[in-house]
Amino acid sequence: MRNVDEDTITRIALAYHEGANNPRLKRIMTSVIQHLHAFARDVELTEDELYQGIQFLTDVGHITDDKRQEFVLLSDTLGLSMLVTALNNHKPAGCTEATVFGPFFVANSPEYENGDDVANGAKGEPCFVTGRVTGLAGEPVPHARIEVWQADSDGFYDVQYAGAPASQGRGTLRSLEDGSFHFRSITAESYPIPYDGPVGRMLTALGRHPWRPAHLHFMIEAPGYERLITHVFRAGDEYLDSDAVFGVRSSLITDWKRHEPGKAPDGTSIGTPFSTLDFTFVLNRAKTGVARRGAPGRSSERRSIAGNWRID
Ligand code: BEZ
Ligand code: FE
Repeated sequence: MRNVDEDTITRIALAYHEGANNPRLKRIMTSVIQHLHAFARDVELTEDELYQGIQFLTDVGHITDDKRQEFVLLSDTLGLSMLVTALNNHKPAGCTEATVFGPFFVANSPEYENGDDVANGAKGEPCFVTGRVTGLAGEPVPHARIEVWQADSDGFYDVQYAGAPASQGRGTLRSLEDGSFHFRSITAESYPIPYDGPVGRMLTALGRHPWRPAHLHFMIEAPGYERLITHVFRAGDEYLDSDAVFGVRSSLITDWKRHEPGKAPDGTSIGTPFSTLDFTFVLNRAKTGVARRGAPGRSSERRSIAGNWRID
């Protein structure tokens, strides 16, 4: 086609992939082209701005490798990740809501027994977590696979430290016959997402901060139920209403009670202040009757989606 102009280019670009034989790809690319063209028209995009945008995405690509995933951060901070989570996790009222997965999940984290300390040396005040996994009718869900991961009190996940240390602040447990589980860890604190790259520059240019409110990540799977990927947030955190990645749901906020040094729930005597929290996870029944396996980006290797994001 010749003499394509601003009035005809959208229609013609769409016509060029009329013969695509993957209908899903065709639908997605049709929408991408329509929205990109509409965006350029809407903001009256200049050639210089188009080049700047391409340069920004090039920078995002250059900093991304098996140790750092800047595209995930971009998707998260633009609200795309949370939108896709919301679109794909419509659940009946009463079920625990899903939220963003984030880049710091590690497949095959160490298996722990109930009562164990998943901190495994991570820095922070002790925290004793109790919970239970149920179905919507309140039925206990025994033997659910519960994966938990969290940052330390400096706001870093184990995989962000240089030298690939042992798993710290993450682990896999199973719920007991009555659906309950309990473990010891450390008290999570609010932390900034990595902001030393192009996404950080974007946030600064937009007058935004990179902080996330304190949270624990959970992924829970049980036969017959939908997999749940969610967080538990701390009531009173100053970033609950300005989470950099839009992940906070009111239903996921709970009191993390702080205790003076003394006798802990596990019967031991603790010489520092510690916290306790309790949360019930309500799973939705799987439509197929079989839990979906796997997780976004999950691999059989022990590595995070982002790999090891080094601090140094
Ligand atoms: C997290 O909660 O681990 C996270 C989520 C989105 C971007 C960065 C970190
Ligand atoms: Fe996190």
